Amino acid sequence: MTLPRIGVFDSGVGGLTVLKAMAEQLPAHYFYFGDTARLPYGTKSAETVARYAIGATGFLEAQNIDLLVIACNTATALAFPRIQQAAHVPVVGVVEPGAAMAAELSKSGAAIVIATEATVSSHAYRDALQRHGVAAHEKACPLFVPLVEEGWIEHPVTEQVARIYLGEALQQAPERADVLVLACTHYPLIAPLLRRIAPVHMQIVDSAESTARVVKMIIEEDVICHPERNEGASATERSRRTPIAATMSPAEHRTFRFYVTDSTDKFKRLATRFLGRQVDHVEHVDLGG
Ligand code: DGL
Repeated sequence: MTLPRIGVFDSGVGGLTVLKAMAEQLPAHYFYFGDTARLPYGTKSAETVARYAIGATGFLEAQNIDLLVIACNTATALAFPRIQQAAHVPVVGVVEPGAAMAAELSKSGAAIVIATEATVSSHAYRDALQRHGVAAHEKACPLFVPLVEEGWIEHPVTEQVARIYLGEALQQAPERADVLVLACTHYPLIAPLLRRIAPVHMQIVDSAESTARVVKMIIEEDVICHPERNEGASATERSRRTPIAATMSPAEHRTFRFYVTDSTDKFKRLATRFLGRQVDHVEHVDLGG
């Protein structure tokens, strides 16, 4: 009887916002893979992102994971079906949970989505929101990732940049838009700043938080009974898996393992900021290609 083993994949440190949200809600053994040598993904092609993500999926599956979470919005937006096809465990991405939460909160049926260039160009959020009956205006905010990684969370420059991005988005979006979707791993860190700038009536949806809720539901409520909650796990895959919750033991201590493709020291420094706690057990891995 063991805790579930959850693999978390991201292009770098940003996915730690998803890990943090999950760890707050769900005891598990977490295996985090940050492709720090090859980030950012937000400017790359779907082909490249899919190749990188599939390599990482294989690595995480070798850690005997029960479930894989694609924490990277860009990787989910550009390569989710391909990752899902390559994986042998259920896969959860961040787009569908974020879109579902936005649809739940929006009264007007219109939302603004802020994300990387690649996520916006893929229109994955627009399409997902449309399926939920919500019209989306998507806005690329490429400067946010480097600003957050620089630690400029509450910084006048970040605030100025945010005012410009949000101002432009508000001008172009339908006037009735009442939800702002943070569709990038890094944006939850500047959520308080965005909250101050966004119109008061606008609700903020954090896709990290929404994804954590979905993962918790899948683990606790048994994915087989609620396949629609699992973005992408194939029907055959779901049907031949034991409910993960059935193997959980509350007495067991959860563990965190981190794997990165670039410097472990740099990851540890940034990870403390993203996770709000000291990070140990970081290993360097080289996937080649
Ligand atoms: N993890 C990416 C995302 O959520 C942001 C960083 C990157 O561009 O690699 O879209």
